[in-house]
This record gives sequence, structure tokens and C-alpha cells, in this order.
Amino acid sequence: MTKGWTKAAWRAKPRVQMPDYPDQGALNAVEAQLAKYPPLVFAGEARRLKKQLALAAEGKAFLLQGGDCAESFAEFSADNIRDTFRVMLQMAVVLTYAAKVPVIKVGRMAGQFAKPRSAPTEVINGVELPSYKGDIINGFEPTPEARIPDPARMLQAYTQAAASLNLLRAFSTGGFADIHRVHSWTLGFAEHDKAERYREMANRISDALDFMNAAGVNSDTAQELARVDFYTSHEALLLEYEEALCRVDSITGQPVAGSGHMIWIGDRTRQPDGAHVEFCRGVLNPIGLKCGPTTTAEDLKVLMAKLNPENEPGRLTLIARFGAGKVGDHLPRLIKTVREEGANVVWSCDPMHGNTIKSSTGYKTRPFDSVLREVREFFAIHKAEGTVPGGVHFEMTGKDVTECTGGLRAVSDENLADRYHTACDPRLNASQSLELAFLVAEELCSQREADRRVAL
Ligand code: PEP
Ligand code: CO
Repeated sequence: MTKGWTKAAWRAKPRVQMPDYPDQGALNAVEAQLAKYPPLVFAGEARRLKKQLALAAEGKAFLLQGGDCAESFAEFSADNIRDTFRVMLQMAVVLTYAAKVPVIKVGRMAGQFAKPRSAPTEVINGVELPSYKGDIINGFEPTPEARIPDPARMLQAYTQAAASLNLLRAFSTGGFADIHRVHSWTLGFAEHDKAERYREMANRISDALDFMNAAGVNSDTAQELARVDFYTSHEALLLEYEEALCRVDSITGQPVAGSGHMIWIGDRTRQPDGAHVEFCRGVLNPIGLKCGPTTTAEDLKVLMAKLNPENEPGRLTLIARFGAGKVGDHLPRLIKTVREEGANVVWSCDPMHGNTIKSSTGYKTRPFDSVLREVREFFAIHKAEGTVPGGVHFEMTGKDVTECTGGLRAVSDENLADRYHTACDPRLNASQSLELAFLVAEELCSQREADRRVAL
């Protein structure tokens, strides 16, 4: 157990982005109730994910992390969960086929409810209201009453996370994710260029499966073909909730965050002496740390030492989110810091959060071209530095939404109003997600080629 750490120690540290609950009694009651509930994940699963991430740090696996910016109570449905899961499976197939390494699938799902905001208030239809902080904290409706933080929302979030995870586990192991169904995952997508490319790849995979079947290897004889590992993750923002679900691993005696397999610290809550870092440093789960343009070398050093004092492989994933055109200004200096410290990290690329703009029609959006460009820059810099691009982190959905502009089925500023459903940041739709997967696959392929040439 981390020396001097308790699950409540964060309470003595400066906190940012967390709500002030007006009714302390109600908050205490919810915390006590949650503390009695079963954890959503088990320590052994978090440890297994950590082992897989250790491989990603070496380039022997690749992390695909994606899902909603903010899950919401209103959008909770089996169809939504299935569609996001299905696009992630598709993306994973594209990436595995290209990189020839296992793809670690981690959803921003079953717990991604709390949001940091850039300002404490927002103006909606000319009225200034407290900002919406995610369904686990307050309501999306633009009324002063809905915006009051309500601790009872934690119980609903827990219930929704439990049900989502249950369905994800069923999809992962119950036959839906069997690689022999690789063709059926395309169902529901409109025809477009990348769908055709996906089908061609699926044909080749089917061929290989037929061959393996003839050789006696199929879903009955090899479980790996019939199921996938799928993990959950979210930003550990609402620490009352995290603390209430923290448990002790009976095997190692170490504390584990029971709210999800992987948790991350956001760009706005990564103060080295702050409450969020204090909580995360003590749990055994894999931890993500967002790194933005304001991340200094000094802070990164302290954060790496605090969050991964033993330099354990797979423990820490640095999620770079600088914005297209800015990766070159920041990633090399942070890679240098990691190198100087001899730190073991997974480098992942979040090309979403540095590329948010306001469209001419007033919607918060992300130009797909900027997203692609940031991914390309991330790979190019790792290539130049001789370091490993270990993963990607996207905000995406399996639905055909119109939230990010561009893509093959070009979404324009005017189209954004058609199906703009996000509760927070704009997400890639199914088609844009697949397009992005092909780009990442190309980058991974060219990296593989380059590595092979070096090996020869
Ligand atoms: C997020 O991932 O939803 C987020 C708020 O990111 P960041 O902390 O990098 O801004
Ligand atoms: Co977001």
C-alpha cells in the first residue's frame, strides 16, 4: 500500500472542478450507501489491463480508448452501448490487421459522467447559469434548479454504470464479439468508401479463419477467437464517488478504484499537490494523465514520481492533447522529460480536446481535418524521437451524429444542427471513427515497416 495514503486523504488537499453540495447530510448519506455497494470492477481485471498496457509501452500492443465525452442519463440505452461497442470492435480489427499486435480496447463508458468545465457559469439563451458538470453532478436542462448539484445523481450513475458494464461484458464474451462475426459488425452503417475497405479486410480475415478452421482452430477450440477483453475508463473527477467505491484488493492488500478499470486525471485537475493526484496515486489501477500545452517539465517529473513511484510498466499512460499544429511545440519537450527520468509510460494521442472550436453556426465542433492532423503529428514526432506511439484516445459514438465537421461524408457547419446530440463535447460519428482508424492503421503500418528495416 502506498505509504501514508488513505482513500480520504484527498480531502485535505486543494480541490478544483468539484461541486459544492448544498446539503451535506444528503451527501453523507449517498456516500455511505455507495460504500456498501459492490465495486463495479475487480482488482484482478485492473491488474490484467495494466499488464497489457505494459506491452503497449513497448510497442507490442496498442491502446484504443474511446467513447462519449459525457455519458448521460437521457441517452442511456442498449442500442447506444451496442453501437459504440461495435465501432470500437471495427476500429480494433482495422488496427490489429495493420499493426499485427493486440489492440487493447478501453471504453470511455460505464462511468464517464463527471465533466470539468472551463468556466463555472455558462450563458444559455441570454441567461447565465451554473455550468452543467455532467449527469452525475447536476442536470443538463438550462434552469437554475437543474444546475444545483444533487448527490442522489451518484446513485443513478452507479446503477447506469453497472447495467452498462453488464451489457458490455455480455457483448464481449457472449458471442457478439466473436471474430467470425467480423462481417456482421458492418450492419447498420451506410455505404461509403471506408465501409468498402472494411469489408475487403473482413473478407481477408474470413479467409484466414477458414484456413484456421480447416487446421482445427475455431471458436470452440480457441477461446481467443470467440471473445474479447473490453475495459472501462473515465475521468476520476468526482472524488466523493471515487472514494466511496474504493476497495481493498484481497490478493495484494492494495486499494483499487472500483468505479472502472482505468481512471484518468484531466488537464484541469492535474495539480501535483491537488486532490485528484492525491486520490489516484494510491489506487492500483492503470492511471491516465492528460498532458496539454501548459504541462511543464517540472510538473510532469513530480507527477510521474507521485503516480508511479516504482516505475511500474503499464501503470501510467500519458495522454497528449495539444491541438493540431502544436504537437511539435510540446511533445518533444515532454518526451525529453520522460527520457531523462527513465520513466516507463504509454504515450497515447487524444486529438480531440486541443481541437475544439465554435462553428459559424454557433455549435461547439471539431474539424475532422484537425483531428487527423494531430494524429499524424503525434506519429511523426514519435518516429523522429525513436519513441513508441502506444495508443489513441477519442470521443466518439456508434451513432450517425453530426457533431464534428468534415469526414468522407462531409459534415458542414450548417449540418451540425441535424443530429447534434452530445451532452458535452462533439464526438466523431461511426463513419469518422472508422476513417480515423484507417489513418492510424496506416501510421502503424509505416512504423512497422520502418522498425523492420532497422531490425534488418
Ligand atoms: C475529456 O477527456 O473529456 C477532457 C475534459 O479532457 P481534458 O482534461 O484533456 O481537457
Ligand atoms: Co470531452
